[in-house]
Amino acid sequence: MNWINQLYCRAFQSCFRLAIPFLPYRKPQQIARIEDLPHVLDQENCQCVLLVSDPGIVKLGLHQPVVHTLSQNGITVICYDKTQVNPTVSNVEEALALYQQHHCKGLIALGGGSSIDCAKGVGARVVRPHTSLHRMRGVLKVWRRLPVLIAIPTTAGTGSECTLAAVITDPKAQTKYAINDFPLIPKYALLDARMTFSMPPFLTATTGLDALTHAVEAYIGRSTTQDTREAALKAIHLIFAFLPRAHANGQDQKARESMAQAAYLAGLAFTKSYVGYVHALAHALGGVYGSAHGLANAVLLPVVLRGYGSAIHQKLKDCAIAAGLADSNTDPQAAALHFIESIEAMNRCFAIPSSIPEIQPQDLPYLCAHAAKEANPLYPVPVLYNARQLEVFYRAVMKEETQWKAMKSMQLSTNSAQPLPAEPR
Ligand SMILES: NC(=O)c1ccc[n+]([C@@H]2O[C@H](COP(=O)([O-])OP(=O)(O)OC[C@H]3O[C@@H](n4cnc5c(N)ncnc54)[C@H](O)[C@@H]3O)[C@@H](O)[C@H]2O)c1
Ligand SMILES: [Fe+2]
Repeated sequence: MNWINQLYCRAFQSCFRLAIPFLPYRKPQQIARIEDLPHVLDQENCQCVLLVSDPGIVKLGLHQPVVHTLSQNGITVICYDKTQVNPTVSNVEEALALYQQHHCKGLIALGGGSSIDCAKGVGARVVRPHTSLHRMRGVLKVWRRLPVLIAIPTTAGTGSECTLAAVITDPKAQTKYAINDFPLIPKYALLDARMTFSMPPFLTATTGLDALTHAVEAYIGRSTTQDTREAALKAIHLIFAFLPRAHANGQDQKARESMAQAAYLAGLAFTKSYVGYVHALAHALGGVYGSAHGLANAVLLPVVLRGYGSAIHQKLKDCAIAAGLADSNTDPQAAALHFIESIEAMNRCFAIPSSIPEIQPQDLPYLCAHAAKEANPLYPVPVLYNARQLEVFYRAVMKEETQWKAMKSMQLSTNSAQPLPAEPR
């Protein structure tokens, strides 16, 4: 990236960093048990609520205790259960229509990040009926207080139950974007680790690695506060200690509770200190190929961390200490490499691949432009890259055969005389 753009990005990020103490960050109020929901909704004067969930959750019956408790207490529950993985604009509009048709007064999001973000999108559209989701993308475009929103996460990953972001996909435009504003922080969160017991091992692993990516990207960024550094390191500690346990035994209560806590802490860290290029690259893949968010992050995280090089060795040493992989006497470079290698080892142990086969060479310019547009100038990343420079990360995770095609098309477009390696069979 040229120095003028670098200057612009860093100046933009500095303004946001200086503004942190004056911005209305808040944490959701915690609800201890499902049985407390009717009382909370009563206090909020809400007798009819839209429950936003997805088909998988409903098939598992995870919504039943919530619906039962509320109905028993005279609160009407309207269910929207069609949220897709990577929730779409149409999901939000369909759920909004139900909300309005039944004159709902509040929202309960029950599910992973997709259902929670879908409910946030509905809330934003309720208070901004004349503004499309697309026009609310970016930062500080919602502005108005949402109807009461209670988030009940069933994965331990996104932290959406405490963040100011809603990530929405527009399949027609092949784009996935974040809407970031303070009213999107749910008013209440109910963390009940039992809701996550039914996650199969692979989902446990990929969502857990999403939480790890939040914590690491927040920590290595340049807009941290003491709070966010502490939350990020605590999350990293919990994830290294308990993700393998939760993966090995989904019924391990202590491991599930610790992962729910880790995802929440990582959410608190990144909602103030932002994510980085791993997320920007992953969101572009979600928009174009529908790639699962946690999986894309898990594959990209070690690759991007290696790319940052010595710029993050000291900070990764702190992460390594939190993970129990190093101590204060360890050389920063050695600690950083050990930390990255441990993420790769976790990935292998969880059967997470090291490539993303859906990436096609002809899509690289679009993917890179999308990722660069999301990240620059907003994310206070340790090293700045433009779209062209980001391409190297996608190429590093393409299938061998696709990597070869990409190199070939680059060679043709640059008329390079450099010989290509043998085509993979
Ligand atoms: N708003 C934010 O701050 C934020 C942060 C990170 C990611 N996200 C977004 O969140 C979405 C990803 O969310 P996610 O990773 O939590 O997954 P998800 O909500 O997309 O769910 C993935 C799948 O897991 C299933 N599932 C969920 N809970 C389950 C359970 N307890 N048992 C069995 N199956 C279960 C769902 O039915 C679904 O099929 C992406 O769209 C991503 O961009 C948002
Ligand atoms: Fe994420």
